Amino acid sequence: MDKFVIEGGHPLQGEIVTSGSKNAALPALAATLLTEEAVTLRGLPRVRDIGTMERLLEEIGAAVDAANGCVRVTARELRRPEAPYELVKTMRASSLVLGPLVARCGQARVSLPGGCAIGARPIDLHIRALEELGARVGQEHGYVVATAPAGGLRGATIAFDRITVTGTEDVMMAATLARGETVIENAAREPEVSDLAELLAKMGARIEGAGSSTIRVQGVERLHGAEHQVITDRIEAGTFLLAGAITRGRLTVRHAPVAHLTALLAKLRQVGVPVTQEDSETLTVHPGDALHSVDMTTEEYPGFATDLQAQYMALMTQGDGIAIITETIFENRFMHALELARMGAKIRLDGRKALVAGGPLSGAAVLASDLRASAGLVLAGLCAKGQTVIDRVYHIDRGYERIEEKLAAAGACIRRVED
Ligand code: EPU
Repeated sequence: MDKFVIEGGHPLQGEIVTSGSKNAALPALAATLLTEEAVTLRGLPRVRDIGTMERLLEEIGAAVDAANGCVRVTARELRRPEAPYELVKTMRASSLVLGPLVARCGQARVSLPGGCAIGARPIDLHIRALEELGARVGQEHGYVVATAPAGGLRGATIAFDRITVTGTEDVMMAATLARGETVIENAAREPEVSDLAELLAKMGARIEGAGSSTIRVQGVERLHGAEHQVITDRIEAGTFLLAGAITRGRLTVRHAPVAHLTALLAKLRQVGVPVTQEDSETLTVHPGDALHSVDMTTEEYPGFATDLQAQYMALMTQGDGIAIITETIFENRFMHALELARMGAKIRLDGRKALVAGGPLSGAAVLASDLRASAGLVLAGLCAKGQTVIDRVYHIDRGYERIEEKLAAAGACIRRVED
C-alpha cells in the first residue's frame, strides 16, 4: 500500500490545473448504457473510480476504448445487466447503473453497497423511485433485483424524501426511456446533475429543469450516440484553493469551475484568505493576515460541499480561535478529526459537530480513511512542522489525479513511497 511522505512548511507557489470532475464523469459513463450507439466522453480524470466504472461497463457487455482522458463506450449488446459485489464494494457509485439497466434491458441486478467509511449510505431512495416508475424491485443474496413491467417503465411523479445526488441521476437516466412524463421533485441541484442532463439531451433525451429542484423528463423511444466534455472538478479545485490557503501560499488554480465554488469562496473571504479571479476559470489565493476561525455547516448544493469538509477542518486547525463545523449530509464523516488530533489538532467531536481550536500541527504518522478525509490529512501535512506520513493513500487515488505530482510542481515537499 502506497504512502505519502510530506515535509510541511513550504508555501505553495505557481499554478495547478484542475482535472475533469469524477462525480460528473461517473454518471456520464453510466449513461452510455442507455444507447446502443457510441458515446464519446472527454476530459475524464484518470482516477481509480473511473477505471472501476469502465471495468463495470465492460462486465455488463459494453466496449470501452479509453485513451488520454477520452473514452468511447459502445453498449451495443448488454449480455450481463449486473453490478457485482466485487466492484460495488470498492465504489458505491456503481449503483448508478441500476436506472440505465432497468430502462434499457428491462432488468438489473446490482449488489447492495453495505456500509462505508462515511456512513450507512443506503440506496432505498433509488429503489423507491424506480418502483414509482413501475419497476418491481426485490432483494436476493445481497443484490437488488429490479424488473421493468411488460411495455417498459412508465413516467411518474417522484418526490424524494431527502435530496440524493446519485439517486436523482439514477432516476433521471431511467426516466429518459420511460413512457410519458416523469417529474422529479426535491431533486439534487448539484452541477454534476446538470452536466449529466446536458449529455442526455445530446443523446436525444427531453429534460427540463436540471439544476433546479424540479426536473421534468419526457420519455423517448430511444437515445443515440453523442460526444460530451465533462465539467471540471469543483472539489479538486476547492481542495487546491484550501491547500494554497493553509500553506499561506500564492497559488493559481486553472480550469477552476468558478461558478460552482461560490460557497467556498464566500467562506474563504470570511476566513480572511484573499482570492482573486483572473478570468472565468482562473482563481488565485494569496497569503493574507491571520486566518480567522469561522463556523461552517455542510449543505446540499449550492451550500458548502460535504466533500470539502475535511479540507476545511484542516484549514480551521490554523484559525485564530474556535470554529464549529457541522456535518449535515453524512452521519459519520469525521474520521479525519481523530487523525488530525494525532498531529496535535485540538478537536472535540459532539455528534454531528466538531469544535476545532486553532494551534500548531506537528507531523505524525496518520491513516487515510476515505477519499476526502485523506485530502484533509494531506493539507494538514503541508502546513505541519516536520514529517507527516499518510498510509493507505489508495483512498485518495480513487478521486484525485496524481495529487502528489500536482502539489509537488507547486512547491510542496510531498512524495509517494511504494510499499
Ligand atoms: N441517502 C439515503 N438513501 C438513499 C440515498 C442517499 O438515505 O437512497 C442518504 C445518504 O446516506 C446521505 C444523504 O442521503 O446521508 C445524501 O447522499 P447522496 O445520495 O446525495 O450521496 P451520493 O449520491 O451517494 C454523491 C457523491 C458524494 C458526495 C454526496 C453528497 C457521487 C458519485 N458521489 O454521493 O461524493 O459526498 O453526493 O454531495 O456523486 C466523494 O466524491 O468523495 C463523495 C463521497
